[in-house]
Amino acid sequence: MIIINEVKVMKAHVRMIKSKKQTIALVPTMGYLHEGHVSLMHKARNLADHLIISIFVNPIQFGVGEDLDKYPRDLEHDKKLAAQARVECIFHPTPEQMYPAGYATSVDVEGITSGLCGASRPTHFRGVATVCAKLFNIIEPDVAVFGEKDFQQLAVIRRMVEDLNLNVQIVPHHTVREEDGLAMSSRNAYLSPEERTHATVLYRSLQHARELYKAGQKDARTVREAAVALIRSAPGAVIDYVEIVDPVTLQPLGTIVPGAVMALAVKFGRTRLIDNMVIAG
Ligand code: PAF
Repeated sequence: MIIINEVKVMKAHVRMIKSKKQTIALVPTMGYLHEGHVSLMHKARNLADHLIISIFVNPIQFGVGEDLDKYPRDLEHDKKLAAQARVECIFHPTPEQMYPAGYATSVDVEGITSGLCGASRPTHFRGVATVCAKLFNIIEPDVAVFGEKDFQQLAVIRRMVEDLNLNVQIVPHHTVREEDGLAMSSRNAYLSPEERTHATVLYRSLQHARELYKAGQKDARTVREAAVALIRSAPGAVIDYVEIVDPVTLQPLGTIVPGAVMALAVKFGRTRLIDNMVIAG
C-alpha cells in the first residue's frame, strides 16, 4: 500500500493505472476509520481493479465554530484498517495541496442543500461538493462509494455528478450500525458514556416511525411528532431537525409515500449526530 501526499504524484499514479487499462474505485473519507468505512472499502474492492481511499479532513466543509481543529485523527490506525481491506493507495494531501494560495473556485449544488443539514450548516455542502469534484478530477475513479448514513451528502454528490457530466459512477452503501443500532460515525468518539447510551434513541425513533407507517399511519406530521417525542425523552438530546422527505428532492412530505426517508440531526452535548432510514419500504 502506498501513501501519496501530493496532487501531482497522485495524478502520475492514476496515469500509470489508466495506461494499463485498469479501473479505479475510490472511497473518499476524512480518516479516523471505523467498521463503517471498512464496509465501504470492502464494497469498493469488488468494483474495480484498484482501490484508492482519500483521507483528508476538508477544512472548507466545516463552518465557523465547528469541530475542524478537534476532528479526530489517527493515521497509523487508518493505515492498518486500509491495508486489511486491501487498499492499494491512500491519497492523504495537505490542505495546501488541495487549496493552494490563490484558490478561488467552488461547486454549489443548489436547492437540495438548503434544508436538513444545510439549514444549520449553510456552507457545508459547498465544501463537500468542491472537495469531491477535486478528488474525482485528481483520481479519475470509475466508481466512488458513499455511505447512506450521509443521506443528504449522497444526494448532493449524485446531483453534482449528473449536472456536471462527471465520469464516475456513484455507488451507495448501507449504514453500518453498532449492535444497539447507533450508526457508526467518527464523531461517536466525542460522546461521553452517558451520551453514548442516550444516543441509541435515534435508531429507536427511526424504527418507531417505520412501525407507525407499517401499522397504517401515512400522515407525516403525526409520525414525525411521535419520533420527536421519543427523542425528547432521552436526557440531553437537542433536536436540530427531524424531517420526513422525498428521497430525491429532499422536500418535506405531507403524506408518507413509498421511498420516504426520515432524516434527523440531534445534538448530545457538543456532538451532533445524523441518521436516516427509509420508513416506507
Ligand atoms: O463523508 C465524509 O467523510 C466527507 O464529507 C467526504 C465525502 C470525504 C468529503 O470530505
